[in-house]
Amino acid sequence: MPLQEASVKEALAKVIDPALGHDIVSYRVLRNIEIKDDDVLVRLDIPTHAYPQAQRRELQQRVTKALEDIGAKRVSVLQNVETAYMPAPSDKAVLKGPKNVIAVAAGKGGVGKSTVATNLALALQRHGARVGLLDADVFGPSIPTMLGQPEVPAQASKDNKIIPAIHQGLKVISVGFFVDKDEAVVWRGPMVHRLLQQFLGDVEWGDLDYLVCDLPPGTGDVQLSLSQLIPIAGAVMVTTPQEVSIVDVVKGIAMFEKVEIPILGIVENMSYYKCPACGHTDEIFSHGGGKRLAQELGTDFFGEIPIDTRIRFGGDAGVPIIAASPDSEHAQRFMDIASKAALKIAAGVLSKPKRSPRLAVIK
Ligand SMILES: Nc1ncnc2c1ncn2[C@@H]1O[C@H](COP(=O)(O)OP(=O)(O)OP(=O)(O)O)[C@@H](O)[C@H]1O
Ligand SMILES: [Mg+2]
Repeated sequence: MPLQEASVKEALAKVIDPALGHDIVSYRVLRNIEIKDDDVLVRLDIPTHAYPQAQRRELQQRVTKALEDIGAKRVSVLQNVETAYMPAPSDKAVLKGPKNVIAVAAGKGGVGKSTVATNLALALQRHGARVGLLDADVFGPSIPTMLGQPEVPAQASKDNKIIPAIHQGLKVISVGFFVDKDEAVVWRGPMVHRLLQQFLGDVEWGDLDYLVCDLPPGTGDVQLSLSQLIPIAGAVMVTTPQEVSIVDVVKGIAMFEKVEIPILGIVENMSYYKCPACGHTDEIFSHGGGKRLAQELGTDFFGEIPIDTRIRFGGDAGVPIIAASPDSEHAQRFMDIASKAALKIAAGVLSKPKRSPRLAVIK
């Protein structure tokens, strides 16, 4: 007897997605199937470009095995990337184009938010996603320095919209393009809110899978305004290992929870220093605080980034480590952090029932 659709579906419903940790049917990874005699074609929607290749192969093997076990002769699996996202509610429709906004934040200044945001954006792009980077640090925009000269500067369109600059393939907007840094430091909340509201709605991002947003330190007006203005899929919190930084990150996390922005996970930056000459490792700011914090708070730990002159130099010279040494261990760590963050967003979206974009705007 040829294979029956019901038994194929039943077998596939038991396949656990190795990256998402849930079955491929309820998490909508299975798009459709075609059965011809004993041959099955399975189409899968991979929910992010940052889904690791090894796990894609593993998924393919699991699907194939599940169907061979019920008598399929030939199994073909087609994987297509369809970035998972939650359509924005109508009151946050100011941002058009980006599917998922990732905020990069920290309780404290100088811990490496901008470094992580820049490399995270480049890593997502290297995974194959279309990515933008919004430098929302009104008080100290640093992304333009970190990315160097743009290939294409920001421009105004015919209808007076803002077209982002292109830096190393990323679409980039910095508040630094619009305000004088010395002027902004005296701004109060309402002015920050008005500025963000005005220009966010005017930027033509085009279709993007991810918009990475670099925030100023702390829990101030920019964080609050952004959370009110745009739908943020989640926040990556950056900390250094020492206690003072950890305490501030806890405050930052509490603020995001208050405005209902999910915490995706924690990155520990400046975790240790490995001497390039002798190989000795020194834990300058102590070590492991980020991991402990993630455990205590029940969130994910995304990884450690060591102190390295190439990271500092790359940031200051406009060539981030991912672009300068894409095959280095550090670049690999950022690729891994990008995968973890993107998968966490995808799992969050796919765990909920599908919200149609059209339904979302009907009140
Ligand atoms: N892992 C690292 N190794 C070496 N240098 C680093 C590392 N991470 C960041 N830096 C350097 O530390 C400085 C501060 O980093 P960065 O600007 O990313 O921090 P920030 O949290 O965004 O700061 P701010 O609060 O001022 O916005 C920069 O000069 C950067 O190049
Ligand atoms: Mg910064």
